[in-house]
Amino acid sequence: MNQLQEIDQLRQQLHHHNHLYYVLHAPVVTDQEFDHLMHRLQDLEALHPEAFDPNSPTQRVGSDLSNEFQTVAHRRPMLSLANTYNREEVSDFYHRVSEGLQGEPFEVCCEMKYDGLSISLHYEGGRLVRAVTRGDGTQGDDVTDNVRTIRSIPLVLPEGGGWPDEFEIRGEVLLPWDNFERLNAQRQAAGEPLFANPRNAASGTLKSKNSAVVAQRGLDAYLYYLLGDGIPGESHYERLQTAARWGFKVGPQTRLCHSLQDIYDYIDHWDTERSQLPVATDGIVIKVDNLRQQRSLGLTAKSPRWAIAYKFQAEQAETILRLVSYQVGRTGAVTPVANMDPVQLAGTTVRRATLNNEDFIRSFDLHLGDHVLVEKGGEIIPKIVGVNTDARDESLGEPVAFITHCPECGAQLVRYEGEAAHYCPNDTACPPQLKGRIEHFISRKAMNIDSLGPETVDQYFRTGLIRDVADLYDIRLAQIAGANREREKSARKIIQSIEDSRQVPFERVLYALGIRFVGEIAAKALARYFKSVDALQTATTEQLLQVNGIGAVIAQSVIAWFANVQNQWLLERLRQHGLQFELNDDELAAHSDRLQGKTIVISGVFTHHSRDEYKALIERHGGKNVGSISGKTSYLLAGANMGPAKLEKAQKLGVSIISEEDFLQMIE
Ligand code: IVH
Repeated sequence: MNQLQEIDQLRQQLHHHNHLYYVLHAPVVTDQEFDHLMHRLQDLEALHPEAFDPNSPTQRVGSDLSNEFQTVAHRRPMLSLANTYNREEVSDFYHRVSEGLQGEPFEVCCEMKYDGLSISLHYEGGRLVRAVTRGDGTQGDDVTDNVRTIRSIPLVLPEGGGWPDEFEIRGEVLLPWDNFERLNAQRQAAGEPLFANPRNAASGTLKSKNSAVVAQRGLDAYLYYLLGDGIPGESHYERLQTAARWGFKVGPQTRLCHSLQDIYDYIDHWDTERSQLPVATDGIVIKVDNLRQQRSLGLTAKSPRWAIAYKFQAEQAETILRLVSYQVGRTGAVTPVANMDPVQLAGTTVRRATLNNEDFIRSFDLHLGDHVLVEKGGEIIPKIVGVNTDARDESLGEPVAFITHCPECGAQLVRYEGEAAHYCPNDTACPPQLKGRIEHFISRKAMNIDSLGPETVDQYFRTGLIRDVADLYDIRLAQIAGANREREKSARKIIQSIEDSRQVPFERVLYALGIRFVGEIAAKALARYFKSVDALQTATTEQLLQVNGIGAVIAQSVIAWFANVQNQWLLERLRQHGLQFELNDDELAAHSDRLQGKTIVISGVFTHHSRDEYKALIERHGGKNVGSISGKTSYLLAGANMGPAKLEKAQKLGVSIISEEDFLQMIE
């Protein structure tokens, strides 16, 4: 056997072991043996670059090369499913199907509704050639390089499997619970923002520009829909078995149901049992099994008539409230937090839940020692949704009374009229407020001083090195490198990134100041309108209200911020440190009001710029990008492969249809 043949053989062996390990969870070789084969293949591939294959098992580790995602049109639109939330709606669906089939008997296939993001995989000649996200259903992002790193997705199908030369298979990409927990633990340790749930984590991961990162995170994929000509099997269930034979991971929970009662039993079973599954699920999907019957039922504009999703109620758990603690944020807002006995909920252990504000606590007449019901929504922090008052032992707990003074600095709290939150008014000396403002200032979307983590800020703050953001610019190497210069390397990095931040553009400096209610978008709008801090500082309420997206609340907050003498002093010091206090010439030149007052819909695939770039261009020239066409739309920016429905609607409503070239000329 020559080396090329050996490469071929090793690849087949490794694909096979990979399937046994990641799909069937039944390996027949040890990890060492697997690694040994892999290393041999890597060595041989290095000797034979001419044998490169993107679908080789060695490619599953991804690469550090940054990839850009191309937008590609789906060959067949990716529909979604109609949702139901109770048995009556399921029963309605069942009877609608029966009617649609004119009383003909039918079976349905019940499967889990995986809570990840949908993916469409294309195979040609038994090899993965393209993987595309759902996007807007008509077009999505080509994420093939990233998907190749998902170990449970076969890159090459087994010979003689009977697969057609070309087909598509759809399913869900997920980050299993244990990998999700590990990832968030790592991010917490590194002071990075946490992912709220596995779906967000999976989506963020799949859109990562670095496929090596994707490979490390441990995504998984469950497949549930085969499309194309020549696929064996005339029922959905059979086709899933077929997909499993070809090496795909299909949900092992899938069942054929023969009656409405069967469906209810399936729902009842998985409503509780799903907490044992390795991945997040948010419902079940009910599909008419027979493909001929599916075709005869057909589709609506958005979803098939032959399938429906039943969504589970959010999971709840009961536990005991032990203590209420209070957190003071950067704005001085005081948030009460419930500290409870640990309880398992939707895959994680929960110890704390937000109590929002005083009214929220009152609405439950909350007592310490109460048996509280917690629920996990889409956020990281769970919430309390009820109290089991029957279990209350009146003799023990006392009603929770909101604190009157700041737990951090002792100042008396205030509650402004019309607001639910309590505030600590001591914004010039309350430590978490001072620290919070510094953390906000250095954050990625603000000044991006990324070498400083929250712990370092905390340390500098405690030792008195910094009290406000202007102090950052006075830090000297000798102060932070350690007595024996043992931290010199990291200290240099810190000094450098503080130095670099002087070039951060004005709009981000404005955001970094942390003026209440002035988020990224408002800061951008203000910077572009007023063009300099000097102009903004002297702006009147009327002028501020002229700015797109600025209302009375933001205007008031801006005026108050600039009126404060301490802030004026801070600004002066930052100015002396050389921060950008006006838009630079490039930014001024890149902006215009050529599209002022125009609303523009983007559709199709483009060649000169990506959709996101067109979106940015529209904004930069004063226009507004919107998603759907209406009588008010000024232009439809039409690319290739645009959906016929949009085109027709635009024509009917008399909206001007322009090409990329027309558009670029307009803003030239
Ligand atoms: S079938 C035409 N099956 O739910 C039918 N979808 O709103 C296509 N999903 O976008 C979907 N688990 O991302 C189907 N077992 C399952 C599913 C599933 C999760 C997702 C999918 C889709 C959304 C439907």
